[in-house]
Amino acid sequence: MRRKLIAGNWKMNGLRAGGTALAGGLAEKANAETPICDFLVCPPAHLLIPVADAISGSPVALGGQDCHVNASGAHTGDLSAEMLADTGCSFVVLGHSERRADHGESNALVRTKSAAAERAGLTAIICVGETAEERKAGRALEVIEKQIRESLPESAEASLVVAYEPVWAIGTGLTATPGDVAEVHAQIRKLLIELFGNDTGNAIRILYGGSVKPANAAELMAVENVDGALVGGASLKLDDFWAIGRSCP
Ligand code: 13P
Repeated sequence: MRRKLIAGNWKMNGLRAGGTALAGGLAEKANAETPICDFLVCPPAHLLIPVADAISGSPVALGGQDCHVNASGAHTGDLSAEMLADTGCSFVVLGHSERRADHGESNALVRTKSAAAERAGLTAIICVGETAEERKAGRALEVIEKQIRESLPESAEASLVVAYEPVWAIGTGLTATPGDVAEVHAQIRKLLIELFGNDTGNAIRILYGGSVKPANAAELMAVENVDGALVGGASLKLDDFWAIGRSCP
């Protein structure tokens, strides 16, 4: 059915020596032992090319952490989806809560970026998730539904990926309970089927993210409709990231 995807979001971490060693180590493990899941690494921009070289010929995929809506032009400091593809990326993370917070990215902008990703042949991983206040107020499902309806492309391909990342669980060591994750992922699945029909809605992978580590990965990856993980901190440690992949059922 849906093969699990274990994606590492390195965020703004890593210099050339450490980043290439980490990616090279992962590629070596994936070459030596056929993984039971798909592995993806999303390094910061300056590491895309050295990491692409380090994972070349291995089953590990490469992704960007954001892209601009345009293919090229006067946009200082930005990278386009086409540029990501040119480095060897096949994925791009869009609408991460850190970009929504740090750069004021709206649902509408994330949707436009998802069209840019499609134009460049990249698979978008679109992030959604509620804040602690929204969960406390009992609004988690409502907030996530709005993000899904407004951030996803109008017509999705089966390869699209959605990541549920409760903001309060990111980098905090707190994780959503398997029960909460099951509830949110079931709601997202229902929406995906409503928006894109049965076949596509059932094929889209839904990742969980937020303090995933080897100690909680097996429990989380066994939850219905959890099709993988978007991993921050633990993706910077080779053995932890590999262990998360191996914990997939
Ligand atoms: P942590 O795994 O560090 O909580 O980060 C999760 C995340 O934001 C991945 O995109």
